[in-house]
Amino acid sequence: MKMKIAKLPGDGIGPEVVEQAVKAVDAVCKKFGHTAEYEFGYVGACAIDNYGNPYPEETHKICMASDAVLFGAVGDPKYDNDPTSKVRPEQGLLAIRKQLGLYANLRPVETFSSLVDKSPLKRELVDGADFMCIRELTGGMYFGEKGRRDNGDTAFDTNLYHRFEVERILKLAFEYAGRRRKHLTVVDKANVLESSRLWRQIAQEMEPQYPDIKVDYMFVDNASMQLIRCPKFFDVLVTENTFGDILTDEASCITGSMGLLASASVGEHTSLFEPIHGSYPQAAGKNIANPLATILSAAMMFEYAFGLMDEGKAIRNAVALSIEKGIVTEDLSGEGTAYSTSAVGDWIAANI
Ligand code: IPM
Ligand code: MN
Repeated sequence: MKMKIAKLPGDGIGPEVVEQAVKAVDAVCKKFGHTAEYEFGYVGACAIDNYGNPYPEETHKICMASDAVLFGAVGDPKYDNDPTSKVRPEQGLLAIRKQLGLYANLRPVETFSSLVDKSPLKRELVDGADFMCIRELTGGMYFGEKGRRDNGDTAFDTNLYHRFEVERILKLAFEYAGRRRKHLTVVDKANVLESSRLWRQIAQEMEPQYPDIKVDYMFVDNASMQLIRCPKFFDVLVTENTFGDILTDEASCITGSMGLLASASVGEHTSLFEPIHGSYPQAAGKNIANPLATILSAAMMFEYAFGLMDEGKAIRNAVALSIEKGIVTEDLSGEGTAYSTSAVGDWIAANI
C-alpha cells in the first residue's frame, strides 16, 4: 500500500518522539512491502512563530490531502502563564480537530504485566486492566460560546451539545463495545447538567438497537473514583469532551506512565494519531522523553486508518519486547539504566 502521511511534530518533545514513530512506520513498511510518504506541517507554537497562526491553512491543506496525520504535541510555557495572550498553541490542536471533523477520540488503557509495579496503584488492582476511553472531541465546553462580561469580571463557557453530536459518538461507542467485551459505561453528570441529561436520554433511546451490549450509567465524580478503585470494571467508557479530557489523564497513570498512552482521533476527514501526553517542555531536546506513546499511536494508525492489523501488531510486539527487556526511557527504567529516546526508537525499529 502507498500511504501519504502528514507529519506534524509540533512543539517541545513532539519532534523527538515523532521521529521515533517514523522509524517504526518505515520499519513496518519495509517488512510488509508498503511505502510511506511524509509531508511536514507546522502546528502549535512553532506555527505561531512561522505563520502567526497555530494551525495555518498550509498545514490544513496537507492534512486534507493525506491518508493519516501523525501528530506530536503542542504547547510552550511562554503562553501558559499569560491569560491575556490572544493566540495560543493549544488553539492549533482544537482547530485541527474541528476542521478535520475529528469527533471521536479513542484512548486505550492497556497494562503491560512487566510494568505493573510502576503504577501508583496496587498490582492486583491494575494487572489485566484493559479498557477503551472514547472521548467526544469537537463539542461541549471546548467549542460552546464563551466570553467575558462586566468589564471582564464575569466569564462563561457553554457546555453545548446537539443531538447529532451525541448520537454519532454514542453509535461509535456502542459498536466499539460490540467488538470487545460488550460492556459500555456512559459517564455523565445527569443529576446536575442539562447537557448530560440529553446524553443519557439519547443513550437510553439507542439501547434497544444494541441488545447484546450491557450499558451502565455513571456520574463523572463516581467514575473518577471507580477508575482507580476498580479499573478492571471498565470495558468501553464513553463521555463528553471535558470529562473525557480529565478522566483520560487520570486513567493514564493506571498503566504506570503517561508516556505509554496512545490515541486515535477519527471522524469526517483524515484521522489523526497522537500521544496523549503534552509537549513536556522541560525535556525538549534532551533525548530523554518516552517515545512509546507516539510509536503506539503509529500502531493505531495502521489499524484505524489503513485496516492493516498485522502491521499494527508488529509494532505492538516490538514495544512489548522493549519493555520486557528494559529498553526503556528514564520514566520506566531503574536508576542509571535508562535508554535515550532515539535508542529506544532504533531498538524498536530494528526489532520490527
Ligand atoms: C488533550 C490535551 C488538549 C485538550 C489540550 C492541549 C488542548 O490536554 O489532548 O487531552 O485539552 O484536549
Ligand atoms: Mn488532556
